[in-house]
Amino acid sequence: MPAAMKLISVNLLRLFETTEGADLGKEFRSRLFPRKALIYSPSDEVDRVFIVKRGRLRVYLSYGDREFTLALLEAGDIFSTHTRAFVQTLQETELLVTDTATFQKRVSEIPEVSQAMVKVLGELLKNSLSTIEGLVFKDARLRLIEFLATAAADRGKPGNGGITVELGLNTEDIALLVGTTRQTISTIMNDLIKAGIIEKIDRQTICVRRFDELTAWKDSL
Ligand code: HEM
Repeated sequence: MPAAMKLISVNLLRLFETTEGADLGKEFRSRLFPRKALIYSPSDEVDRVFIVKRGRLRVYLSYGDREFTLALLEAGDIFSTHTRAFVQTLQETELLVTDTATFQKRVSEIPEVSQAMVKVLGELLKNSLSTIEGLVFKDARLRLIEFLATAAADRGKPGNGGITVELGLNTEDIALLVGTTRQTISTIMNDLIKAGIIEKIDRQTICVRRFDELTAWKDSL
């Protein structure tokens, strides 16, 4: 797949050298940026579309000290400045830049341009989905740990070298209660078992071996 994608990218730059692409090419101005430069921020008012002529860039979201990379751009890739993302150069980079309005007037004439847009937006979507998954998963972790800690504190009895709790619920019931899938519950439970924090006694009974660590884990999420 990446090889095929690359063909599309290279075509977009070559396109400007063909007669049909030359007119569109005239609308773009070249701009050079040094390495590690923050070239666009969401707060910028400019509304431009750019094509990477050479170099590499990173498209990312940033909240406080946390960052999520949404896409890496390379030669032939196309992107815009009207998004909530930051754009930073990873190495010295040359961009071909035009106004979004100018670009819009011409874009429908040339199918290669939409193909290049689909490539970048596809990558952006893929990374956004992974970010969402991570956030949802983390949420489920917190909710499951809270559920287990409360059950142990309220209904647990000493035994099996810790606090033994008859949950009276199978994985599916817990998933419904916590608001996630059975698979997610199994993954998190297995993590807790591997870490020696809980032990499975039978299908519906667990032993919390290290209650302090269970709550400490919760606080670290
Ligand atoms: C034909 C030219 C284009 C027009 C008229 C256009 C127009 C728009 C508009 C109206 C929005 C919604 C903005 C908002 O919610 O405030 C948008 C969002 C967006 N556009 Fe474009 N766009 C164009 C080209 C591009 C290109 C070339 C790319 C990248 C390949 C792109 C990527 C995006 C992304 C990622 C968003 C979502 C922004 C966000 O919510 O953070 N656009 N565009």
